[in-house]
Parts: sequence; C-alpha cells; structure tokens
Amino acid sequence: MSSKLIESDIESVLFSAEEIEARTRELGARISADYSDARITRDVAGRPPIVVCVLRGALLFMADLARSIPTQMEYDFICVASYGNGTSPGVVRLIKDLEGPIRGRDVLIVEDIVDTGHTLSYLRRGFDARDPASIRVCTLLDKPPRREVEVSVDYVGFTLTSNEFVVGYGMDYRGLYRNLPYIGVLRPEAIDA
Ligand code: IMP
Repeated sequence: MSSKLIESDIESVLFSAEEIEARTRELGARISADYSDARITRDVAGRPPIVVCVLRGALLFMADLARSIPTQMEYDFICVASYGNGTSPGVVRLIKDLEGPIRGRDVLIVEDIVDTGHTLSYLRRGFDARDPASIRVCTLLDKPPRREVEVSVDYVGFTLTSNEFVVGYGMDYRGLYRNLPYIGVLRPEAIDA
C-alpha cells in the first residue's frame, strides 16, 4: 500500500479548516432561520426540508453543515459524475438516485462547488420533474467566471474570482485529496500533464 502524505502536494491553502468551520456555522444558522420562515417553506404539510448531499464532493461539507442546522431536517444522497473538464463538456451522468420521494417537499441541494453549472442544472431539471414544493441550493464554493449555464444559488460559502482548480474538504483531483481538512491548490508537479 502506498501512503504518501497528501499535504506535500499542496502549494497554498485557500480556506483553512477554521475558516470553513466558521462559514459553515453561519450558513447553518441562516438555513435554519430561513426554513423556519413560512414565507420560504412551501410544503403545505409543514414537513421539515430534505437536505440532499451531492456525492461525492459535498460529503464533508454536508456532514458539517447538517451539524450546524439546529432545526428539523431529513437528508438524502444523490451521486452524479460530470465530464465537464474533458472532451464532452456538460455531460452529467446519474450514478445513484435519491432514496425517497421529494414530491411536495422543500428540497435543499448541497453542492461542493458550482463551476460550469451543468451539474446543478441537471439536478434541478431532474428534481423539478418530481414536483417538489421548493428547491434551494447551498454550495460551499462558487466559481462564477467559469459558468456556462445560468443557475441560481441561494447560499454560498465562498466565491472564487479566479479559475483555480481546488482540492480538499471533499473535493478531489483524480480521486485524491478529498480527505484534506482544508481547501487548497495543488503544486504544478502534482498535476499530470
Ligand atoms: P460543474 O462544472 O458546475 O458541473 O461542476 C461539476 C463538479 O466538478 C463539481 O460538483 C465538482 O465536484 C467538480 N469541480 C469543479 N471545479 C472543481 C475544482 O476546482 N476542484 C475539484 N472539483 C471541481
């Protein structure tokens, strides 16, 4: 087994574990306040929102965000693969669907990063077709300069103004670095040509 230290491949830290934790707490407080507001919730039965974690990138963010939401919620998972960085831009494939129905429910999608917007656009279209009461989106990172399709995002952790590719806190490069506790940028030597 190879067990190379992942830290040695990081050139710089963009957001430390402490910064992420503080921002996640703020987002959790805002989300619970919003979903306690009858003007925002649309579920006529008054059920708590279903928070949907988009695997695999949003796993760590979701785990911390969920613990920062002190009000009632349910959660579910969906897994998609995107080929946005390669030869077929915007192609999104469903790997694992939600387990439960969302019809008539308030849905909050939790993403790691909104980049071109294709993944979120795909998810929204799929969810809209299931007739939920409302759909909102929370993303840890937003990269507006890279957007190819317009998507609306309700809660943003941090906005990136550059096109830098980031890793850590759930986000990967070729399947690695998801387990870094912070968000950083890779050294050029760690990136395959
Ligand atoms: P989209 O381009 O908005 O469809 O983003 C698709 C997915 O690509 C995101 O959910 C991330 O998992 C991944 N992604 C986009 N930008 C980055 C990045 O800078 N680092 C790691 N993953 C990224």
